[in-house]
Amino acid sequence: MLVLGIESTCDETACSIVKNGNEILSNVVASQVALHEEFGGVVPELACRRHVDLMIPVIDKALAEANISLEDIDLIAVAHAPGLIGAVLIGVNTAKALALALGKPLIGINHIEAHLYAAVMSHTAPVKFPCLGAVLSGGHTALLLVNGIGDYRLIGETVDDAIGEAFDKVAKMMNLPYPGGPHIEQKAKSGNPHSYPLKPGKVKGSPFAFSFSGLKTAVLYSLAGQDSCGKRKESLTEEEICNMSASFQRAAFSDIIQKTIAAAEKYQCQSVIFGGGVTNNRTLREMLALEASSLELIWPSLGLSLDNAAMIAGLGYHRYIQYGSCDDFELEAHSRSPLLFS
Ligand code: KG4
Ligand code: ZN
Repeated sequence: MLVLGIESTCDETACSIVKNGNEILSNVVASQVALHEEFGGVVPELACRRHVDLMIPVIDKALAEANISLEDIDLIAVAHAPGLIGAVLIGVNTAKALALALGKPLIGINHIEAHLYAAVMSHTAPVKFPCLGAVLSGGHTALLLVNGIGDYRLIGETVDDAIGEAFDKVAKMMNLPYPGGPHIEQKAKSGNPHSYPLKPGKVKGSPFAFSFSGLKTAVLYSLAGQDSCGKRKESLTEEEICNMSASFQRAAFSDIIQKTIAAAEKYQCQSVIFGGGVTNNRTLREMLALEASSLELIWPSLGLSLDNAAMIAGLGYHRYIQYGSCDDFELEAHSRSPLLFS
């Protein structure tokens, strides 16, 4: 079964052709990072305009790379939640138009669920359920008990910033480019992770919930002083940037690792599937391999950590087999996620 997947929930316009849920025939991603970089974050209006320009060329490229035509497609899957509403709508309306014009079935996919599926489709052996799911993206941070594809129970999530968002904001405080995650990872390599005594946030009564806003404020005060009134210090030395990057990364990741291990123990999970852009971070993968050596750690493969449409097409295959397609006219775009965490 050939599935055409479309992803446009934030600042990546993507299309992919996936066979039977895991064989990737093409995976085209047009990133808008350069467009948003000068603003230090995604500008929704600009993102939407760029999605409109890129959508058809990206679909054409995905078909050409897979060496197939639109008529060969059996199903169209589109990320319909959560995300920037204007951006999500462009993907959803493109998918609806294609489905109607071609007479093909259509299915809406939750972007966050797809991030977790990216690890499942990257794994060479079938994933054994139940397992723990860890979503570490720019918009979400959560631990879930995964009983199977489509069967999730939320264990804990962030009460404020998502982990990727915290990376991006801390990077901005140090005048590093957007998105900040990869820059912090790079700078951290030359820094001392213990130079700033930063502590991750705890959420009273919720051992598996996350809080990164206190950590973010602690970074600001450490860099600029307690009397900074929220203003960042204008000039930081390279050494200060590297040391802060390493210290922040250590504090944020120790928190995630400690809660992941504790949740796996409590819910008796032997394996963990990881999803979201922050899983691209090599230091996180190395720290977990060291500290959680008794767990099977299942990561998205190269090209499937950050936003992509292969995870949408792959998950689309399973959801279609489980539930069939949706009514082409009924499918709605949602800025928040009504599916995975409900
Ligand atoms: O999953 P994703 O592509 O988009 C959302 O669904 O949110 O995640 C993007 C996030 C950004 O916040 C970015 O800074 C972060 O992932 N990220 C990283 C790394 N690469 C991307 N964070 C830490 N280390 C990285 N290497
Ligand atoms: Zn994402």
